[in-house]
Amino acid sequence: MLKNNVVVITGGAGLIGQEFVKAVVENGGVAVIADIDKNVGEKTKNKLSDELNTKNIDFVKLDITSKRSLQECIKKLDREYGKINALVNNAYPRNKNYGKHFFDVEYDDFVVNVGLNLGGYFLTSQQFAKYFKKQKYGNIINIGSIYGVVAPRFEVYDGTSMTMPVEYTAIKSGLIHLTKYMAKFFKGMNIRVNTLSPGGILDAQPKTFLEKYKKECLNKGMLDKSDLKGTFIYLLSDMSKYVNGQNIIVDDGFTI
Ligand SMILES: NC(=O)c1ccc[n+]([C@@H]2O[C@H](COP(=O)([O-])OP(=O)(O)OC[C@H]3O[C@@H](n4cnc5c(N)ncnc54)[C@H](O)[C@@H]3O)[C@@H](O)[C@H]2O)c1
Repeated sequence: MLKNNVVVITGGAGLIGQEFVKAVVENGGVAVIADIDKNVGEKTKNKLSDELNTKNIDFVKLDITSKRSLQECIKKLDREYGKINALVNNAYPRNKNYGKHFFDVEYDDFVVNVGLNLGGYFLTSQQFAKYFKKQKYGNIINIGSIYGVVAPRFEVYDGTSMTMPVEYTAIKSGLIHLTKYMAKFFKGMNIRVNTLSPGGILDAQPKTFLEKYKKECLNKGMLDKSDLKGTFIYLLSDMSKYVNGQNIIVDDGFTI
């Protein structure tokens, strides 16, 4: 499905990013882990290359909030591959105060976290789209969330220390509309932009939370990270050639 396609995955060393890297390679593409954490990024590259017995995984250190870092990354990839087929905005930057309950969030932290994440997704898209425009094609996938679509079901967090941060809602709902803005702005440039909005992904969460969350879903509840692969590859491939500006939700029905 992605033969020789060069796909850049920001935050590619993280929980979901690693799965996206695998999916790209399994479908014949070259996956570039573009992550701020050099140590984890290189380890991930080596681990997944061994696991999949492939030479088609690359690592580039990238900070999605730095124009210079983005420009260097794009230059390096252009030198190495002569093309970039797709960008997957998947990184998850946040500061040390991220994740507090609504009444405890300070204005400065709200602004910083929205800036790092939504601002970073904007900046990364802007810089890659400049390259895509020259190249005359490109594909951007923004990783959203169910919480960009519906208000949180706060009751699922009762009895745990978890919450759904207010910044996240602002970031992910903004991202869905940013996707539409960019898709339309790129009219005639052969660059498409879509959002993939996952439901919660299993990652050793407390049992009480998992049970309550499952009640909001239709069959499975929290998803395995590999459950996103099909939709991810669909959006990267020509099978979705004229799907543009859309938000595809993969959540076992949580949002309906
Ligand atoms: N985990 C879930 O349940 C879930 C559900 C829905 C959506 N999502 C979305 O999926 C995406 C990935 O989430 P995850 O859970 O895999 O996160 P994660 O924290 O496991 O991984 C995020 C990665 O981003 C990297 N990163 C952080 N700041 C960066 C920066 N400035 N530049 C480049 N890389 C940076 C980190 O080093 C890390 O490797 C996010 O957009 C998240 O909102 C996650």
